[in-house]
Amino acid sequence: MSLEDIRNKLAELEKQALGELEQAVKDNIENIRVKYLGKKGELTAILRGMADIAAAERPLIGKLSNDIKTRLEEKISGKFRELKEKSELTALSNLQVDLTLPGDPVGFGHLHPIHQTIEEIVAIFTRLNFAVVEGPEIETDYYNFEALNFPPEHPARDMQDTFFIEDKVLLRTHTSPVQVRVFEKQKPPVKIIVPGKVYRHDADVSHSPMFHQVEGFLVDEGVTFADLKGILTAFIKEMFGEQLSTRFRPSFFPFTEPSAEVDMSCFACKGAGCRVCKQSGWIEILGAGMIDPAVFKHVKYDPEKYTGFAFGMGVERIAMLKYAIDDISLFYENDLRFLKQF
Ligand code: PHE
Repeated sequence: MSLEDIRNKLAELEKQALGELEQAVKDNIENIRVKYLGKKGELTAILRGMADIAAAERPLIGKLSNDIKTRLEEKISGKFRELKEKSELTALSNLQVDLTLPGDPVGFGHLHPIHQTIEEIVAIFTRLNFAVVEGPEIETDYYNFEALNFPPEHPARDMQDTFFIEDKVLLRTHTSPVQVRVFEKQKPPVKIIVPGKVYRHDADVSHSPMFHQVEGFLVDEGVTFADLKGILTAFIKEMFGEQLSTRFRPSFFPFTEPSAEVDMSCFACKGAGCRVCKQSGWIEILGAGMIDPAVFKHVKYDPEKYTGFAFGMGVERIAMLKYAIDDISLFYENDLRFLKQF
């Protein structure tokens, strides 16, 4: 082959490759590269014909073929990029996405109705200057009973009511033991509110083996039953409504003397008598009384110097009254259809 032949062949090869590239689709670009520039490709085949060429002219051919190789490689990768972009654009425009559609809805949670009620009660007493304290749910017989002046044979200690963990260790049956724990650590004046869980072996539509109480107590010099009435009346009006009246009935608790059960006039019928108040016009809402000097003796408060009152209320009972709920178990089933209503 003459130099001229090789030149022509190279020019021809370049023209042909460019023509094929023009028609190429993305997937066969690599085939074109292999066909013309690969080790066994057409450019190599032409260069094999150089055997006949004078040694002096070979560098010229070498340069020529290198230039062609560079040009073709650039063209090939340019074409590849172009086709790739094009296919990506087509894929995008074929996508059926409606960006104006609204997002997936998410729901906000909120506090459980029992905790809403606790927060409401605690907030009212906080504004009356009570401090919030909590105590252990696992208690000893001493704090739950003995220091609260329960006689050893008192029926409330019976297995019927109390969950014992071992002899003298139990799940507290009320929040009153926190009185004793506070009195041991703090000298009067004390003015404290205690929210918390309590446990009793009891279950029906208005009783659950675990429920919540809020205890309150105030000890200082010169505290009287009138202070107790004033505080509780203020609380009940704030919690249930200004127009409600209260009634204190004599009752008994081992750790208070005198003791009272506190009723409020029925908020549903305003005292006329209805299903909520079982036709009595009154709803029992908490237990209370003046702290028995026997309790003070256990914690070395001087009963000649100090007097105090205490009260305790069931949170579930208050929530059931307030929201007209007739089955306590609704609070613990966590059915969203129920919880969403609060
Ligand atoms: N601890 C009593 C109960 O659970 C309630 C109470 C508290 C009564 C404080 C009087 C004073 O029944």
